[in-house]
Amino acid sequence: MRVVSGIQTTGNLHLGNYLGAIKNWVAMQDQGECLFFLADLHALTGNISPHELANSTIEMAATLMASGIDDRAILFNQARVPAHAELCWILNGTARMGWLNRMTQWKDKAGKNREGASVGLFTYPVLQAADVLVYKATHVPVGEDQKQHLELARDIATKFNTDYEVELFPLPEPFISKAAPRIMSLRDGSAKMSKSDPSDLSRINLSDDDDTIAQKFKKAKTDPEPLPDSFEALAERPEAKNLVTIFAALSDRDPQSVVAEFAGQGFGAFKPALADLAISVLSPVRERLNQLLGDRAAVGAQLARGAARASELAAPTLLAAQKAVGLQV
Ligand code: TYM
Repeated sequence: MRVVSGIQTTGNLHLGNYLGAIKNWVAMQDQGECLFFLADLHALTGNISPHELANSTIEMAATLMASGIDDRAILFNQARVPAHAELCWILNGTARMGWLNRMTQWKDKAGKNREGASVGLFTYPVLQAADVLVYKATHVPVGEDQKQHLELARDIATKFNTDYEVELFPLPEPFISKAAPRIMSLRDGSAKMSKSDPSDLSRINLSDDDDTIAQKFKKAKTDPEPLPDSFEALAERPEAKNLVTIFAALSDRDPQSVVAEFAGQGFGAFKPALADLAISVLSPVRERLNQLLGDRAAVGAQLARGAARASELAAPTLLAAQKAVGLQV
């Protein structure tokens, strides 16, 4: 099993990233060979200042280390392993415009201003395919929002193998968290928790202090009804369902057992319990993060070591792809 996944280095890491992806990454370190990276090349497709990009890369790497990513995994930033961008260019010859035009993230992010969107934003999923295919990844732990990009990576791999009559790329399996496939905004149960939401109250950042975490849960949108005795009964109450999902994922419990415990109680009782739980999980992460940020050079050195290991693993696949398409290298 070869596990590969990445996180785009824009903004803050939040509880959705933690429960939907990072928690699985930490657990998978014992199950197979893992490569985790900061997708700094992907971040370039949006509007990000050089200062913000450089800072975000180190801070997110430190957050991953604080969350439990350690030497069992290879941690690096994408830009330091040029094989990602080189394979991306080769795969740009395989991917079809029509496939990319169907990507919902492209449609959402470009909005009505397609003519003004960066070319990188359009070809973003091809780089993502290269990220996983360059290591012949078998498992890609991600939140549900990345499923479509992973399906595209499978389509690209299949077309490449067929067109060039090789068996180079295994098809990567998306590995989606069962407990937290899609954590929603604390302000709107129909929108996912996201770095790009202008309201900071919509998300719990992994850097938030205990008071901020408690305040954000207190202000989270809910409804006046008490909790029912079955999780299914929350189907039409997205904000309530989201808070129960967060509680269950943070405590590694079944959501049904959480509603059973709080059945009949209102959010005045549930929210403080949820805030206490979140603080007990996140404050040790934040403390380790603050320690690591005291020595940014050490975090940079860790990334450099990871990049050296990742480059060795990527080289044979890139060479095989270059040979398959007839490049003289
Ligand atoms: P990104 O940086 O938006 O998110 C990182 C990971 O967090 C998951 N996630 C969520 N999970 C549950 N609920 C949420 N509200 C939530 N928000 C984010 C994402 O699904 C993701 O797993 N394109 C990718 C980065 C990337 C990548 C890759 C991922 C680049 N190359 C190769 C996997 C493999 C992205 O922007 O994720």
